[in-house]
Amino acid sequence: MQKVVRRVINHKYTTLKSDMLIEGAVVNFDCYIKRFNNYVIIIEAGTLITAELAVKLKRIEKIYIAVQDTDKIRGYIERYGLKEKNAVPNPIRSVQEMIPSVMRLNEILQQCETFENQLQSVYQTTSELMEAIFYESSETLPLSALDACVDALVHCLNRDESDAISIILRIIPEAYTTHHHSTNVAIFSIILGRSTGLTKESLREVAYAGLLHDIGKMRIDQSLLLKPTYLETKEVERMQQHSNFGLEILQNNGIADPKILDAVHYHHEKLDGNGYPSRLRGKMIPKFARIIGMCDVFDALTTQRTFRSNYTSYEALIMIKQQMADQFDEYYTDTFIRLLGSPRKGK
Ligand SMILES: [Fe+2]
Ligand SMILES: [Fe+2]
Repeated sequence: MQKVVRRVINHKYTTLKSDMLIEGAVVNFDCYIKRFNNYVIIIEAGTLITAELAVKLKRIEKIYIAVQDTDKIRGYIERYGLKEKNAVPNPIRSVQEMIPSVMRLNEILQQCETFENQLQSVYQTTSELMEAIFYESSETLPLSALDACVDALVHCLNRDESDAISIILRIIPEAYTTHHHSTNVAIFSIILGRSTGLTKESLREVAYAGLLHDIGKMRIDQSLLLKPTYLETKEVERMQQHSNFGLEILQNNGIADPKILDAVHYHHEKLDGNGYPSRLRGKMIPKFARIIGMCDVFDALTTQRTFRSNYTSYEALIMIKQQMADQFDEYYTDTFIRLLGSPRKGK
């Protein structure tokens, strides 16, 4: 990989599929990765993609290009006979740009003809908002917009779960991204919470915490978040700070509900006391943190990562039940198995 050559802060960026960067091609645009709040060039325009570079690039979850370069990409795609479809996804909208559609979610849901369309709309809008939040990495959170997403998610999912689950498992993308993961954990937490008797208000709280459980990752360097190999001890310690960071960010935004704060703070605690940040044991771990912790692991296992392919729902549930039995509440594990026992899309 080329050395970092400079930082650029005044562009707007969008992602580029890494399979567009093929061996033998000479790129005519700069490519970036995100490092803290900066976009750092990893390949300069004019670089030849060697076989070794192509392999390294495939391991990077997100490669960015400047939006102003999208015309250059079209020329590049034509020159190398690549398939243009989805090569350059739509530019990520800013939080401000997202807010009008988020605040209209209720109205949009009423216009949807089917339940599936409703779920797709709320899934798409919530994920896009979370993407914009992580993309901008501003620690001032759009609380009203998050409220609107949580309301819409609970509205759609506070009902007989069987049809909702099969639709959800179909629409969740297989590739892991932090914004989809946040939405997925919120959704699974509502489904699990409802089946274990939570009230509507509690479902709102658990969904809110699910959506923001990894918000502390804003403060973690992207190169660490996306590192395709195992982390060194120091890197693990840095990564584990995201639960403390998450608590701080929520408090700084005036969120005071202790159930939400605890759920975000303790979502990596394990029943056997081997979790973090406080090595809490058993019932010392707050209920919502236990719900979110299980949904977090399930979603992480069933989505593709840079270092492995995804497990099916069935495989993930078996792992949670057999290999992680000491870590998770049996009641939640068994409820989750009853709800989600069917294989995930494509597997
Ligand atoms: Fe986490
Ligand atoms: Fe997570």
